[in-house]
Amino acid sequence: MNKKASRFISCVLLLSLSVFCIAPMAPKEVHAAQPNTRPKNGNHGQAPAPASSRPGKGGNMRPGVATPLPNLTAQQMALFQEGKALFEKHFMDNEGLGPRFNGRSCIECHHNPMINGVQTIGGFGAGYRSNLRFHNEPTDLTGTLFHEKAIRNLPLPPIPDASLISKRRPFTLLGAGMIDAISDEAILANQATSGGRAAMVDGQLFRFGSQAHVKSLFDFVVGALFAELGLTSPVHGFTSEPVNPDLPLNLQSRIPQPNVTMDTVQKMVDFIALLAPPVPATPATAQQVADIRSGEQIFRGIGCARCHVPTYQTRAVALPPGQMGPSPVVWPALLNKEIRPYSDFLLHNLGSTLDDGVTLGVARSFEYRTPPLWGVQSRHNILMHDGRANNLHHAILYHGGEAAGSRREYLSLNGANRHLLITFLESL
Ligand code: HEC
Ligand code: HEC
Repeated sequence: MNKKASRFISCVLLLSLSVFCIAPMAPKEVHAAQPNTRPKNGNHGQAPAPASSRPGKGGNMRPGVATPLPNLTAQQMALFQEGKALFEKHFMDNEGLGPRFNGRSCIECHHNPMINGVQTIGGFGAGYRSNLRFHNEPTDLTGTLFHEKAIRNLPLPPIPDASLISKRRPFTLLGAGMIDAISDEAILANQATSGGRAAMVDGQLFRFGSQAHVKSLFDFVVGALFAELGLTSPVHGFTSEPVNPDLPLNLQSRIPQPNVTMDTVQKMVDFIALLAPPVPATPATAQQVADIRSGEQIFRGIGCARCHVPTYQTRAVALPPGQMGPSPVVWPALLNKEIRPYSDFLLHNLGSTLDDGVTLGVARSFEYRTPPLWGVQSRHNILMHDGRANNLHHAILYHGGEAAGSRREYLSLNGANRHLLITFLESL
């Protein structure tokens, strides 16, 4: 029986016993969940948390469910919960939303609908929402974010004719704090082995986003508040949005400037930073354990691990507060942990098929950051930067350019070995 079928059946079994199958995903319960018990390879250098006695725990084992890191202090747990509430909060016009925006809340796009339709934080799922980036410039290929909504029916600027449009699917936010906590040196060292290019801006390494166009989790949160919700934050460059003169005067005067406080920004950052990374599937049988292990050997053997670098040890020491604001990499829960994200966090040219003519940051239009493969089991039908591959096999076939050799080797595998490789990927 495959794992989805077994999950479904255990869910149905639980449902028939009680409503506990739904209980852990009810809004108040998700963040109060006990830490997951992880199989060994998903353990971040910590002893697995004791198995919870709550009967609904099975729900939290699903990838994509917002579970805090294990062993948080009561104070950290409180921050996690406050940040989660802000992440799910629907911002209103009189709080400074917009005037043009894509969502009233972060969770509108960073959700992951489960079998019972309750939204949880992860980033993917049926009916997922993406961004559109466009440009119609012959030389500057930088993509402008398209805004789909506006307050008070203000006009929306159209996408100019003859624009190039690039769709971008959201990432899972699970484990983003751990990615922030990887040292620059570890990522830069990958250049020699994977052949990728570090996204350097003014001597600083950028690692987040589909084209490694954002430096840190903090910057991404500030950027998302501004770009997706139209909310200004009290950080350099974001304080000066003029009040829209088209708005009624009484609304103009009520809007706080900047729109959100540093406390709000920091709590959102802390919430994301304290989210536990995706949980690898727990194999039910010895055969499945062996298959996953063989699949991983094939993954390494045909060169996938060259770019999808499996393991890191996060920084041992906290970072000093950054230029843009306090650093989230201060939590002991993020430091000196072994993580398995499967990425080199560098830019690669995978050939012209993936080149949609739009760039972000210092990447060229044909360069994309290697996405971490952790959690791929919960997004196996929404793959590559624009979600163009709807299964893992197709995702591999879209690998050309620097990865053409790996694709060739994949295609020369026999059916059984291809299946083992996919089984391994499906376990992540
Ligand atoms: C309209 C949809 C939408 C909304 C609303 C939205 N995001 Fe995103 N988010 C995206 C997409 C799409 C990406 C991937 C962009 C890319 O890199 O191409 C993304 C990426 C991110 C990332 C980077 C993850 C990584 O590993 O690189 C972070 C962090 C993030 N969003 C945080 C937020 C926060 C915080 C909010 C609320 C303030 C928010 N997002 C609101 C669509 C959205
Ligand atoms: C030269 C570096 C490189 C090699 C080698 C490589 N990949 Fe990738 N992989 C990437 C990049 C870059 C992307 C993102 C492309 C995009 O976003 O359009 C990617 C995307 C993926 C994705 C989609 C993940 C997601 O979240 O959308 C999967 C799955 C994947 N690779 C698996 C593999 C497998 C399996 C192999 C070996 C057969 C492999 N890759 C070899 C660089 C590489």
